[in-house]
Amino acid sequence: ETSHITLDPGYKNTGATTSAITFLDGEKGILRYRGYPIEQLAEKSSFIEVSYLLIYGSLPTAEQLDNFSDRIRRHTLVNEDMRKILDGFPATAHPMGILSALISSLTAFYPESLKSPQSEEEMDLSVIRLMAKLPTIAAWSYKNSIGHPVVYPKNKLDYGSNFLNMMFAYPTENYEVDPVVVDALNKLLILHADHEQNCSTSTVRLVGSAHASLYSSVSAGISALWGPLHGGANQAVIEMLEAIKADGGDSKKFIEKAKDKNDPFRLMGFGHRVYKNFDPRAKIIKKSADDVLSALGVKDPILDIAKELEEAALNDSYFVERKLYPNVDFYSGIIYRALGIPTNMFTVMFALGRLPGWIAQWKEMRENKEPIGRPRQVYVGETERDYVAVEKR
Ligand code: SDX
Repeated sequence: ETSHITLDPGYKNTGATTSAITFLDGEKGILRYRGYPIEQLAEKSSFIEVSYLLIYGSLPTAEQLDNFSDRIRRHTLVNEDMRKILDGFPATAHPMGILSALISSLTAFYPESLKSPQSEEEMDLSVIRLMAKLPTIAAWSYKNSIGHPVVYPKNKLDYGSNFLNMMFAYPTENYEVDPVVVDALNKLLILHADHEQNCSTSTVRLVGSAHASLYSSVSAGISALWGPLHGGANQAVIEMLEAIKADGGDSKKFIEKAKDKNDPFRLMGFGHRVYKNFDPRAKIIKKSADDVLSALGVKDPILDIAKELEEAALNDSYFVERKLYPNVDFYSGIIYRALGIPTNMFTVMFALGRLPGWIAQWKEMRENKEPIGRPRQVYVGETERDYVAVEKR
């Protein structure tokens, strides 16, 4: 009865759905959001405008963009009870674990989000609340990890500046937002905003297909993104580069380790399921890393190690044969570091960027009334056998 099942581990050759949101061409290294090339969006757009584009399908008019930004601003506060949940976490808690827990807890503060089906207005309110509150919760999870008081959102600030202020301001002194930092953050968030059916987005769609709330679905997506083979790679790249530097900076030694089948070590930030020539985002981020570090007057030796590693890998047959190139995570951590963002917050930054993509994909799945996701399997276990009493085992 399962003879018609075709096995496809990791869904390497399975199209799970149809989508009109993001277009990828892995061979040509093309990435477009609703038809717009990311090279143009990264240069000319803003993260909040790209979020609107992904979620609602078209570039907003000035009035639509103002309205979207204003609605978000009015929802950036979280219920004060959130702080009690936050206080329950030890300072050693990884911010990604806090983020998925607190995003899931939004269902407790907004039980109407559990309704199914939801009206367009109810769904849209969840969208706005999530766009508005995730940055606040993300910044608060950081403050918790350094034992500092949380900083509240300021509605006169734009999206990126508001997040940076909540991350780096103190009750004791104001934080002056550096335009170079805001611009770099804006570009990074745009480049992370969506990526068709990657692991975390497929998770959001699968959980949402059971008519779980948007908050529960995104909380699940955050957990998937945390994996070191996925969004967690941006933190793993920096840890790897630090290890190479501490070990004397011999990148060739680590290339050999990555090729050794008996060594579980992988070159983090390299390789991609879809991109088999280059990751267009990595190209833009690599260039931006040089610009941002020189604009901030930051010299970071691990940027040089990263470039040597890329150079060595691109000339090594093991990597060339397997079409392994730097992906989005390879250089992004170097910029986050230059912006003063701590390593344990790098994957949270990925979640902040990917949020509009998750929302857009969840909305599309629900609007298309897609059936609950329920794949089959090929059974390879025991054939039928009878129960044996414990004394006879
Ligand atoms: C992201 O899907 C997306 O779109 C994800 C993402 C997004 O925007 O959502 O782009 C974000 O997650 C980027 C990827 C970040 N992850 C890493 O940098 C971790 C290191 N990379 C890998 O683990 C791996 O390349 C994946 C997970 C990215 C892709 O895995 P695949 O497609 O399942 O490929 P694979 O593991 O089967 O590897 C194919 C071969 C294997 O060797 P052989 O078995 O053929 O001998 O390449 C080798 C692997 O051992 N290989 C690596 C390697 N990546 C793959 N060898 C050394 N170093 C690596 N980084």
